Amino acid sequence: MNPAVVAPSLLAANHGAFAQGVRTVEEAGLTWLHVDIMDGHFVPNISFGPQVVADLRPLTKLHFDVHLMLSHPDRYVEAFAQAGAERLTVHVEADHDVAKTIAAIKSAGLSAGIAMNPDADPRRLLPYLDSVDLVLCMTVFPGFGGQSFIPSVLDSIRFIAAERAKRGASFRLEVDGGITVETGRRCREAGADTFVAGTAFFKAPDRKAFAAALTA
Ligand code: DX5
Ligand code: ZN
Repeated sequence: MNPAVVAPSLLAANHGAFAQGVRTVEEAGLTWLHVDIMDGHFVPNISFGPQVVADLRPLTKLHFDVHLMLSHPDRYVEAFAQAGAERLTVHVEADHDVAKTIAAIKSAGLSAGIAMNPDADPRRLLPYLDSVDLVLCMTVFPGFGGQSFIPSVLDSIRFIAAERAKRGASFRLEVDGGITVETGRRCREAGADTFVAGTAFFKAPDRKAFAAALTA
């Protein structure tokens, strides 16, 4: 079993002060930072690009868990590897050769993840489960922070967790979107071990306590 990890999403930090957002995550005693990259095409919102990742890299040892919400993620693997990402997750719904992109991520020396939207059939991920380090089950439709958790994704999480057990695999099972202490607990019971939290983390009055409750 993978130890539980909380990965606060930089998307919910003040975009005029990302360095402060990074410090906030470190002060909560956490080790991962979830970095949402949006192209205004795969999703209807634009966030920021590899330069932000590169500029934050020398400021912290946080593990950069980069979630690419891009129509052509394959075109940006090199840029994010150069920028200092540790992990790149790409969507099964994007316009690319998924197996090839996963191979490119790994040959750049990074951990590779595959993501699916809340309405995707989790069986679409089966061909990739033996080659990824992480599966991301989106618990909202990607594009914006602050949305409500979609409970039907719990079935997909259970399906992926069962496949992981069947294969004796050890990839992480990450959830992202609308994660609170309560929805996080439901995901954990379904088999998730990696919890992205944007709004709930940055708004928590006691962020250390929030993270502890999410992994308790
Ligand atoms: C949504 C992003 C999420 C987002 C989560 O497209 O992938 O990472 O920041 O935000 P909250 O936790 O506010 O739902
Ligand atoms: Zn994300």
